Amino acid sequence: MASDESIVTMDGPAGSGKTTVARRVAERLGYRFLDTGAMYRAATLAALDAGCADEPLDEEAVCRAVDAAGVSLDDRGTVTVGGREVEDRIRADEVTSRVSAVSALPGVRRRMTSLQLDFGRRARPGLVAEGRDMATVVFPRAEHRFYLDASVEVRAERRIGDLARRGLPAPERPAMVAEIDARDEKDSSREHAPLRAATGVEIVDTSDLSVDQVVDRIVARVAAAGGAAS
Ligand code: DC
Repeated sequence: MASDESIVTMDGPAGSGKTTVARRVAERLGYRFLDTGAMYRAATLAALDAGCADEPLDEEAVCRAVDAAGVSLDDRGTVTVGGREVEDRIRADEVTSRVSAVSALPGVRRRMTSLQLDFGRRARPGLVAEGRDMATVVFPRAEHRFYLDASVEVRAERRIGDLARRGLPAPERPAMVAEIDARDEKDSSREHAPLRAATGVEIVDTSDLSVDQVVDRIVARVAAAGGAAS
C-alpha cells in the first residue's frame, strides 16, 4: 500500500470538479490517479451489455455480468472491460442513468473496493483517489482527505459545459439540476457506502473557485504536510 501519508482522497458529488482536480493534483505531485466513478460506470456497462441493468436489479446477475466481462484496472489505473479501454462508452447517458442503482449493490461495491485497494497497494510514490467513499470506506487512514462540493446550479452548468465540449446533447438547465439532485439523493441515501463527508476531511466549496485555485490549494496542503514537493 502506498503509505497513509502518500494517499490523497477526494470525495464529493457529481459536478463538484473532483475528477479534473484530482487528475491535476496527481500530475503535480507525480502520484498515481484513480477515478473510481469510472469503475462503477464500467460495472454498469457490463450489466447493460449482459441485459441486466434495468431496475429492479438482480444483484447476482449483475455481479455475474461484472465478473464475466472482466472489469479491471490497468497499470496506470485506467478502467478496462475485457482488457479494453471503455472511456467513451461509460460516459453515455444509458450508463449515467443506471450507475447509481448498480453502484448501490453491495456485491458490486465489494468487487470495486477490492480492485481499488489492490491498486492502492501497488501505487508508487503515492495515490490520488477520487469518488464517493474514498475517505469513509476504502482509504480511511489516508492522511490527506478532501471533500469537494459546489452548489447544484454551478454543478449543472459544469455538466452542460462538459457535454457541449464533447459534442453531446445537453438538457436545459432546470432538467440538469433535477437530474443532478436525483443522483445526489440516490448516492447519499443508499445503505452501503453512501456519499458523505467523513469526519475530519477538509471541505472545499469550489462554486466560486477556478480549477487552478482548487488544485493550488490542495497541492499546497499536501506539500505543507510533507507529502510531496509542489
Ligand atoms: O463520479 P461519477 O459521476 O463518474 O460516478 C458515477 C457513479 O458511481 C455515481 O453516481 C456514484 C457511483 N460511485 C460510487 O458509488 N462510489 C464511488 N467511489 C465512485 C462513484
